[in-house]
Amino acid sequence: MTRHFLRDDDLSPSEQRDVLELALAFRSDRYIRTPLSGPHAVAVIFDKPTLRTQVSFSTGIAELGGFPLVVDGKLAQIGTRESIPDTAHVLGRQVAAIVWRTHAQERLQQMAQHAGVPVVNALTDDFHPCQVLADLATVALHRGGTGRLAGQVLAYVGDGANNMAHSYLLGGATAGMHVRIGTPDGYLPDAGILADAARIAAETGGSVSVLHDRDAAVAGGDVVATDTWISMGQEDQADARETPFVPFRLDGAALALAKPDAIVLHCLPAYRGKEITADVIDGPQSVVWDEAEFRLHAQKALLTWLLERA
Ligand code: NVA
Repeated sequence: MTRHFLRDDDLSPSEQRDVLELALAFRSDRYIRTPLSGPHAVAVIFDKPTLRTQVSFSTGIAELGGFPLVVDGKLAQIGTRESIPDTAHVLGRQVAAIVWRTHAQERLQQMAQHAGVPVVNALTDDFHPCQVLADLATVALHRGGTGRLAGQVLAYVGDGANNMAHSYLLGGATAGMHVRIGTPDGYLPDAGILADAARIAAETGGSVSVLHDRDAAVAGGDVVATDTWISMGQEDQADARETPFVPFRLDGAALALAKPDAIVLHCLPAYRGKEITADVIDGPQSVVWDEAEFRLHAQKALLTWLLERA
């Protein structure tokens, strides 16, 4: 059966661990596995802006021996000029896998339903699961291995309703972490996703909680994370989306409440002075450049796992 990675819990806890182990191995030796050898293309489609994702998937697919076929969503007009099922059939006859950054999760689900090849979520409105794989690999690197993820307190402060919050909930719960979301009223995670994360956490020994107090969320945290207050597609709400989040800014005072050896994550792009202060993101506890590098290794590991497993 063709496997896809549309949301973080598409990998079971043991599958997630296998992918993270492979990501760490790719970090040590970039050419240990080349499953795309023999010229296989992977379509990488963008309906939203990108830098890290385009570069890391393109570099990674090339390092796996394949050809990254980057498709501009504005030209392709998927779902407008041609239906998603028709596009999926056409692509699935030619490429080894489809990586897609798009808006509604439903679009990705339709692609997966009809493509016949693995489909990977490169960010939707609801999830950013490749980023959270990279984040978990980064935490594993700094904590002494994937075996150390379970039990870590992962505190995320900021927009609790966005793709990163949702992916931390599902991906963190899968890893057995204690995921705390610190967010203002009115920016709660999706109730269904929160319930799914709670169910997974009950199986892995982790936990999930949503708090309306930044300091309570980060207190004693092992990993502290945040994300932009204005996600792609929300630019027209920029003014309204600033004030409610100011009390949830990740600044030095907040970081001082976390464990002394806590590490700081940010998926980038970062807006210094908004969701995170410069002293924190550029400070000694920040591991954001490792995190950005792990996009490459984690996505190579994921593609390898999806292609070799089939
Ligand atoms: N929440 C952000 C993540 C950027 C990588 C967005 O969707 O724009």
